[in-house]
Amino acid sequence: MNPWDSPDLLGSGRIAAHAVPRAPGVPLDGSWRFQLLPSPVSPVGEQWGSITVPGTWTTQHPGDLPWYTNVTHPWPGNPAIVPAKNPTGVYERDVTVPAGWAGQRIVLHVGAAESVLIATVDGVPAGMGKDSHLATELDVTALVTPGGTHTIRLTVVKWSDATVLEDQDQWWHGGLTRSVYLYATNPVHLADVRVTASASGRLVVDARVTTTGDRLPDGWAVAATLDGAAVPLDQEFDLQQRADERVSDWLGLPRLRADLPGVTPWSAENPVRYPLTVTVLDAGGTVLDSVSLKVGFRDVRVDGRDLLINGERVFIRGVNRHDFDPLTGRTVTEEQVRAELSLMKQYGFNAIRTSHYPNAPMVLDLADELGLYVVAEANIETHDHAHEIAGDPRYLPAFVDRVSRMVCRDRNHPSVIIWSLGNESDYGVNHDAAAAWIRHDDPTRPIQYEGAIRDDWDGGAHAGDIVCPMYPSLDAIVSWAADPGRTRPLIMCEYSHAMGNSNGSLAEYWAAIESTPGLQGGFIWEFWDHGILQRLSDGLPAGPAAGPQWSSGAAAPGYRWAYGGDFGDAPHDGTFCADGLVFPDRTPKPGMAEHRELASPVRLTLAGDVVTVTNRQHFNGLSWLAAAWEITSADGTIAVLPVVLPQVAAGESGILPAPQVPPGDAETWATLRLTSAVDMPWAPEGTEIARPQVRLRAEGRSFPTGSGLPAGAGLPAVVVGDDGVLRHPLLVAGPVLSLWRAPTDNDRIAGHGERWRDLASLTRTHLHIDRSADRTVVENRYGDVIHVQTVTAAPGGLTVTDEITIPDTRDDLPRVGVVLETVPGFDTLSWYGHGPGETYPDRTAGGPIGAYTSSVDRAFTPYLRPQESGGRHGVRVLTLTGPAGTLTLHPDTPRQISATRFRAADLDAATHHDALVPRATTVVHLDAAHRGVGTASCGPDTRAPYRIGPGLHRLTWTLRGVGQPS
Ligand code: GAL
Repeated sequence: MNPWDSPDLLGSGRIAAHAVPRAPGVPLDGSWRFQLLPSPVSPVGEQWGSITVPGTWTTQHPGDLPWYTNVTHPWPGNPAIVPAKNPTGVYERDVTVPAGWAGQRIVLHVGAAESVLIATVDGVPAGMGKDSHLATELDVTALVTPGGTHTIRLTVVKWSDATVLEDQDQWWHGGLTRSVYLYATNPVHLADVRVTASASGRLVVDARVTTTGDRLPDGWAVAATLDGAAVPLDQEFDLQQRADERVSDWLGLPRLRADLPGVTPWSAENPVRYPLTVTVLDAGGTVLDSVSLKVGFRDVRVDGRDLLINGERVFIRGVNRHDFDPLTGRTVTEEQVRAELSLMKQYGFNAIRTSHYPNAPMVLDLADELGLYVVAEANIETHDHAHEIAGDPRYLPAFVDRVSRMVCRDRNHPSVIIWSLGNESDYGVNHDAAAAWIRHDDPTRPIQYEGAIRDDWDGGAHAGDIVCPMYPSLDAIVSWAADPGRTRPLIMCEYSHAMGNSNGSLAEYWAAIESTPGLQGGFIWEFWDHGILQRLSDGLPAGPAAGPQWSSGAAAPGYRWAYGGDFGDAPHDGTFCADGLVFPDRTPKPGMAEHRELASPVRLTLAGDVVTVTNRQHFNGLSWLAAAWEITSADGTIAVLPVVLPQVAAGESGILPAPQVPPGDAETWATLRLTSAVDMPWAPEGTEIARPQVRLRAEGRSFPTGSGLPAGAGLPAVVVGDDGVLRHPLLVAGPVLSLWRAPTDNDRIAGHGERWRDLASLTRTHLHIDRSADRTVVENRYGDVIHVQTVTAAPGGLTVTDEITIPDTRDDLPRVGVVLETVPGFDTLSWYGHGPGETYPDRTAGGPIGAYTSSVDRAFTPYLRPQESGGRHGVRVLTLTGPAGTLTLHPDTPRQISATRFRAADLDAATHHDALVPRATTVVHLDAAHRGVGTASCGPDTRAPYRIGPGLHRLTWTLRGVGQPS
């Protein structure tokens, strides 16, 4: 009868899950007495430490540290046979129950316990519960005396029969991860309230009134108001109830109902909610219980190949979200979640999937408030044992319990548009049982489950109304949708794996989604890089008390972002937990900018002197946006012109006169800087929303001076050493062939990293130098790779042509280009090209073309495991400046360039950032070709057009410089 090894024991003494929000009457967050025992059967000792609740003990106690595995279950063999070594946290504190609670029903609410909770009050069992991401509520009325002081003990057992259901790809922790409190109600109370509110204005409120006594008091009644106006009882329903002999004395199921055709429907774009109050009264009109909710009126339904929100086929621009924090592990605050969801909104997301469990309740409250559609997912991932468990009758109750308790908790949220049965748990009868429960209980929402369609995108209909594959190739979804016989919408539950330098070809996915009937979007994997802040001095988690120790994505000196293995955890899956769009401190990575532009509410096309402005939203007009044209060329911003946007409805287009092209023949772009014109709940006025752009004039091919060098200035005489390498006073290393990049996570996991390793240090097998009066031609051979470099003098500098011949035997390379290294003292880079962030050939949408400046130190993205980064795509001219002078590189055509403090080998050698030592010099890569970043760490490799084939690659560039090596 151990609760931790009985799969059929899900809880004991638990109050049924419900959607009635109950405010803490006595908050119990804060410091608790704590002991970490080696097992749940170990005796509790005399010595108590202390711990912060809510929080994981794994980030607060050195006795049991975080452990990261993706698929691997924590112990081998039968998952229901729980290991004897089983960290168990005993939490204890004293609480004084308010004297005013005499006669009330008193409930202990434990927000979440990982993975089994056992509660006692003064040593008397109060109950137990499982599911690490749902609350356990226990009626403790009989165990406490109002006015008295009692000892609450919460024992949390880490490993259990339920661990197999919680085998998600994330850190294993232990502890009480959400708030604990007591609340009190009248014995006669609202056990639940179910709100059904449709966009038409129909409101149905089904209450469940019950009592802890034998029968409800005679003459009890229920009343409700919406926005202050009464919602009447549904008399017909009420009469039926009264006549129905099956309705018991202890339970009332009243229905209230109103038709309010004037309501504004809720949508992610316009998340309007109305306050609803439901009250239970006694015969004398005294209020016995009352709850307040916020109601959003909206419809969701699947109609053939379309998922419709309020009748509209809304694109799902989603992201997968875990409860995550780098100090606490999983405990989040409302302030953090608000900042997180606001950031998602600012970057164009309109949906989250609560991967892979019910997220903290405030996440859904905030999704309702800020406007995000939610796929609410149940806490079921049996990954390592998926096949056995999907049909294991011992686990049938747990499947239905986890799914149904989630639905009961979350059903009143307008943001929740789809229920998900869980993740990566194969597909079996247990899923169908859980799906059947939802189909009966909540026919208002569709269901999805990836496992049900994994092997057959046309199968699994009982458990899925949506075809929700993970990481499909673009070709696979497009060809699937090409068959008009398909009957369900396709919305990818995971795609565009954001691990390290990634999210290649997101623009192509979106081009396909927006143009292919049946494709309706997806959820990027994932939002967070799950790096835990680790102190370098002792290797322990910094823990909640450390406070923020980070900046701009990087951990502060003395700390690092830990990933699998860093706490001595084994086996582990290394950096695979660092696969998000934001760093652990919520700093956006480049994939965020890419998404933002693709999701822009406004799209532009230029024809002649007219710009067509299309409102890409589904519901809103453009009045919430302010706009200004920024006219830019290589010399910077030429003009900023305010714009009055045409006021066009969602889906409609209007026109604007194209801004005047300035005189001259320089390439010129007009970028529409869109900002919020008013304070939005998720974006204060002036927040940048997107930067769509049009090219006003193509390049006239005049050679921009860029550097501001005086005519004829520069360093004389081209010198090529006898080693065949260009000498230049501002370079410590001249331009030599570079075919390698520090493997990205995608490169490494796809096996390219190893395949390309010999490119890291090329051995020259042949050198021939041909010097003539006006040029030096150097022929280098590195085995079968030929690099011919021709250097000629040019006004103010020199011109270099690199002709690189790649043999057929090497048909897929990371890069083909040259690398050089400046003297120290070049600290700033300016460029004209994609920016301001990092861009790569298959990830350019997020970087409008413009004139940008960055410090060299910052022109680099601190991915958790150092890798190729800092690339700038489509660079027309690059200028380095600093105390050492000015150095300008001007390629023949827009090229991939980077200028950072690191050589590829430096990045490759470091496993974490703290191990990187920035050079004083600046390392510049100039590429004739650079392989796209793709998403191969989980999902499709770089698409064919972004791979580098054999043959001749040619690159011409000028180098001009003035200055003094310091
Ligand atoms: C999916 C899984 C996620 C995560 C991802 C890879 O298969 O659902 O939880 O593991 O792959 O990062």
